[in-house]
Amino acid sequence: MGVAEQVAGHYGRPGLEQDVLTAVAEAGLDLDHLRPLDLAEIDEFHLGGLETMRSLLAELDLGPGRRLLDVGSGIGGPARLAAAEFGCPATGVDLTPEFVETARTLTRLVGLEDQVVFETADAAALPFAEGAFDRATMIHVGMNLPDKASVFAEVRRVLEPDGLFLIFDQMLTGDAEPDYPVPWAAEASASFLETPARYRELLGEAGFTVDLERDLTHEGVAFFERMRAEADAAGGPPALGLHVMFGAEWPQRVAHDAAALVQGVLTANVVVARAT
Ligand SMILES: C[S@@+](CC[C@H](N)C(=O)[O-])C[C@H]1O[C@@H](n2cnc3c(N)ncnc32)[C@H](O)[C@@H]1O
Repeated sequence: MGVAEQVAGHYGRPGLEQDVLTAVAEAGLDLDHLRPLDLAEIDEFHLGGLETMRSLLAELDLGPGRRLLDVGSGIGGPARLAAAEFGCPATGVDLTPEFVETARTLTRLVGLEDQVVFETADAAALPFAEGAFDRATMIHVGMNLPDKASVFAEVRRVLEPDGLFLIFDQMLTGDAEPDYPVPWAAEASASFLETPARYRELLGEAGFTVDLERDLTHEGVAFFERMRAEADAAGGPPALGLHVMFGAEWPQRVAHDAAALVQGVLTANVVVARAT
């Protein structure tokens, strides 16, 4: 099995969309009157959740005149947030068909279908023309990318000169690897972690200069601690949460990721790169 099939098999499964919709209803939300931020507990699939995503998008000077590409858009939380809070039209691409279908359904349910669209595609072969976008985001996707050079080259191709590319990924600090499974991979052979230095090098080779780099590891650890405290207090996970998409293995995946961040095996870094 190739990496693309492995990734899509890891994230997708039959019935995923229905499970998400059932969880939304069980959380007491009315599917006929959903607002974009109602979904934040399940559609922001990265460390820090909604608050972190909001502060990252604020780095990008987004607005109605911008065209944002979200690479590896999951079920669409970051792209919908860009439209809902910043008025920015967004296009998401993702390898996992079930995620793209769920993203489209949720976008229709919150009434953003005129501003936010999703396509099934591999980030290494983006189905867009040169310079089609002036902003790009890639949130917790690099850990699934064996060939980051090709993806960065594709993002550079579809961005206008001076366009901004924001990456938020978990990265290696040295030679040690986390214990598996983790949220993005069942085993080491499906995980493609790199150091921040390697990201910078690859971005430079693809035609970017790095404007900003920030370590958000402490926010990531606090995010996991908050999730755990809330679940402990409630005697179990909430109706709406990332566990809905991952089932029984989710607590172990989170525990391994949290331990790797606390032990300094992984760092959660943001990079904002500018197309030269
Ligand atoms: C951890 S999820 C993050 C989703 C979303 N960015 C978010 O923050 O909510 C990683 C996503 O990357 C997607 N992905 C992984 N490799 C990809 C590739 N080569 N091309 C496009 N999407 C990819 C997966 O299908 C998955 O939806």
